[in-house]
Amino acid sequence: MPHNITIQKTEKSRISEVDFNNIGFGKVFSDHMFLTDWDGQEWTNPRIVPYANLSLSPATSAIHYGQAIFEGMKAFRNGDAVFLFRLRDNWRRLNISADRMVMPEVPESLFTEGLKTLLSIDKMWVPGSEGSALYIRPFMFATDDFIGVKPSEKYCFCIFTCPVGPYYSKPLRIKVEEKYSRAAQGGVGFTKCAGNYGAAMYPTKLAQSEGFDQVLWTDPSTHTLVEETGTTNFFAVTGDGVITPNLHETMLAGITRDSVIQLLKKENIQVEERPLTVSELKSLHTEGNLKELFISGTAATLINIEGFSHQGNYFDVMKSGNTILSDMVRSQLDGIRHGNIADSFGWIENI
Ligand SMILES: Cc1ncc(COP(=O)(O)O)c(C=O)c1O
Repeated sequence: MPHNITIQKTEKSRISEVDFNNIGFGKVFSDHMFLTDWDGQEWTNPRIVPYANLSLSPATSAIHYGQAIFEGMKAFRNGDAVFLFRLRDNWRRLNISADRMVMPEVPESLFTEGLKTLLSIDKMWVPGSEGSALYIRPFMFATDDFIGVKPSEKYCFCIFTCPVGPYYSKPLRIKVEEKYSRAAQGGVGFTKCAGNYGAAMYPTKLAQSEGFDQVLWTDPSTHTLVEETGTTNFFAVTGDGVITPNLHETMLAGITRDSVIQLLKKENIQVEERPLTVSELKSLHTEGNLKELFISGTAATLINIEGFSHQGNYFDVMKSGNTILSDMVRSQLDGIRHGNIADSFGWIENI
């Protein structure tokens, strides 16, 4: 273990207080967390400690100037075995965010050793019931106590975990957003920086007050091209195959999106990664050629879209469509993540 991670275990585990049949999402935290500090030169003092509040100066740079990034990944239980899904892809994406936000990269060995040590201690927190998983939240934030806009010299990198149930419980109604934007050209849409999520809350709240579950973001210049939804990527199933918007700088490159594309291609289903306009989506619906809509993400997995609203008109997709293809992809993905289907992609790691 090259990083000499020190371990301080909790004196009393909280696991017996948790109702694993009612865990919800993001409210229950496992016993321990991993921490390490960037001192301006290198990552120092890697440690596992009991999950607890952090003590911060009110002048902590991240709170004021937004150098804060995160990742989201999951571990799955199958009997006594625990599988991590696409660990290295999340590590790579964390560093893409870090580079853009002028933050230090986390070496792969520190990321994986910290995470695996944490999981070996909190393995019992990985839930086993259907639809549940251990959600893993690696994140980094600027810790200089300094007022003035400049990159911080010091940072904290932390990983904590939470046992979670399903993120969404039913198909979603979404609103095509034509006024607000999640990201701009030349901006930070391709990163998981905290500000992207804060900026999305107001338009999402408006859409929810109109009876929708989520916003379907469109391109910031013309609002005619479909991009992604809240924390998920978007797929349209037609009579010919599957279309998903091609990646570019205003979208997040979802790891679940990539997994779905690879699974579909393996099944010889045609996948087109290309610009998809709202008009095309509406035409496909009118022609009866829009079979399914679904979204993909680590938290949500694969969720069907019931329908979408554009300029006040609602296009119900599930009424005339089906969920055959999304059901197939979901069950393949779940099978691989739980170690029930052979992983020919090299996605899972038994820990
Ligand atoms: C904006 C955004 N789009 C898409 C996704 C889906 O990405 P992934 O499949 O890696 O969870 C996420 C979640 O991380 C997200 O925050």
